[in-house]
Amino acid sequence: MFDLAAYLKTPCVPETVREFAARSHKNLIGGEWRDASGGARLDVYEPSSGQAMCSVPSAAVGDAEAAVTAARAAFDDKRWRGMLPSEREKILLHLADLVDAHFDELCVLESLDVGKPLAWTKIVDVPEASRYTRYMAGFCTRLDGRTTHTSIPGDLFTYTLEQPVGVVVGIIPWNFPLVMSAWKIMAPLAAGCSVVLKPAENTPLSAIRLIELCLEAGVPEGVVNIVTGLGSIVGAALVSDPRVDKVTFTGSVPTGKSIGRAAMDNVTRVTLELGGKSPVIVMPDADLEQAAKGVADAIFFNTGQNCVAGSRLFAHKDIYDRLIADVAAIADKMVLAPGLDPSCELGPLVSEDHMAKVLTYLDKGREEGAELVCGGGREGDTGYFVRPTVFSNAAAGMAVMREEIFGPVLSAQPFEDEAAVIKAANATEFGLAASIWTRSLSTAHRLIPEIDAGTVWVNTHNLIDAPIPFGGFKHSGFGRENGPENLAAYLETKSVWINYGDQ
Ligand code: NAI
Ligand code: MG
Repeated sequence: MFDLAAYLKTPCVPETVREFAARSHKNLIGGEWRDASGGARLDVYEPSSGQAMCSVPSAAVGDAEAAVTAARAAFDDKRWRGMLPSEREKILLHLADLVDAHFDELCVLESLDVGKPLAWTKIVDVPEASRYTRYMAGFCTRLDGRTTHTSIPGDLFTYTLEQPVGVVVGIIPWNFPLVMSAWKIMAPLAAGCSVVLKPAENTPLSAIRLIELCLEAGVPEGVVNIVTGLGSIVGAALVSDPRVDKVTFTGSVPTGKSIGRAAMDNVTRVTLELGGKSPVIVMPDADLEQAAKGVADAIFFNTGQNCVAGSRLFAHKDIYDRLIADVAAIADKMVLAPGLDPSCELGPLVSEDHMAKVLTYLDKGREEGAELVCGGGREGDTGYFVRPTVFSNAAAGMAVMREEIFGPVLSAQPFEDEAAVIKAANATEFGLAASIWTRSLSTAHRLIPEIDAGTVWVNTHNLIDAPIPFGGFKHSGFGRENGPENLAAYLETKSVWINYGDQ
């Protein structure tokens, strides 16, 4: 029996995290920490044990309305956007420093809440949250417009003025809670907006901690608010509130569509970052050792709970058998363990429901005739561990080839030539990311424009960084996060015409 209390006493867990992970949490609305108006609560689970650590409010519709009221008031009275840009920049840089100062604490908290290997939260989640905050801070002082030249005769001067869009609702998933919280808060703040954040029901802890740090850094009360609870209640109330100017969402395609529809009733602007079924294309000239490791990392990172996971492998027929064997050998050796265990290479899935969903796909793959090369089931009966799995000779129509599984499950298929692999890679409703493995620059440059994806990596996968735009083609969504493109999503452009002729 997994002893959660003993796990929480692992020496790497700071006392502050032990206290935070056991606390009865509240929502921050207009600078006040509050319980849900109906008093309902949601348990927060630690996925290696499947046991509850603490609880958060399960907010009601009235709490969503109160949070929007607070964000609206903060926007309208200009307590944030009215500050000098350099003052706002200083506060966001201070916030990035606070994220760094609480590095160990945030790494452990994220590992406990999501089940991630601690080694990875140290390399990916917390450094990205801090880098992203620092990158966005710089935009506070760089919100330029342009002067333009009109062909209308007269003494006319025209220019554009970039202004914050207003109240932003950020709705985030459970796979990268801290990074996603940073993405949904910092760009709006840099633009001068106010924010209501709604974390995923099962991983709210690092978002709450980040909001605490926002206040500590000096972000004024009401400018950032957080409501925890069910998407169907508090999420739906937030996205259909006519006082909201912009919704930024990351999650599944069906939820994204329903949010898009609700937002459009009020012509609320939306950015949607939805799922993926990203192809990994291995050409016959690839460095096969590098490619095997790359293919395994592409699918198994974050236990496959990754919107850009390389879940479809297309390998040239000449190297197919060897590559599959090499990837399976890597998968078979992976150590499944609780995230804080230093040996952990593959953590548990996030929840019991999600594990059940992933296991269903393992059954479907077998039933539909894909060849199981390794993995194929749950590991142990405590926590939500699933063995890293490879299906070979998966046909285009199979569920494991078409649908986002969001688990450690790779489906592979051989290909004959470039034309065939382009067609196969694009035979999906998704278009988030892709990777191409080759030693030939010409091959890479020929393929890059042909693949329907918002990001294409060559001889690497999974890299995401604040200055580089990130987002999807096709059903993977629209709008871009990261980079200057992200900032534009939180700004309205005003065109100004001045007639300076004698009046
Ligand atoms: P989801 O898309 O339903 O949930 C994401 C967020 O949206 C959560 O905060 C949820 O509370 C909220 N939400 C749900 N319904 C809402 C509504 N009607 N209005 C407003 N907000 C709402 O994703 P879920 O159920 O957690 O996962 C299901 C599948 O979605 C996963 O198995 C995976 O395939 C995919 N997914 C994709 C992600 C990505 O990064 N693109 C992230 C998480 C899940
Ligand atoms: Mg959890």
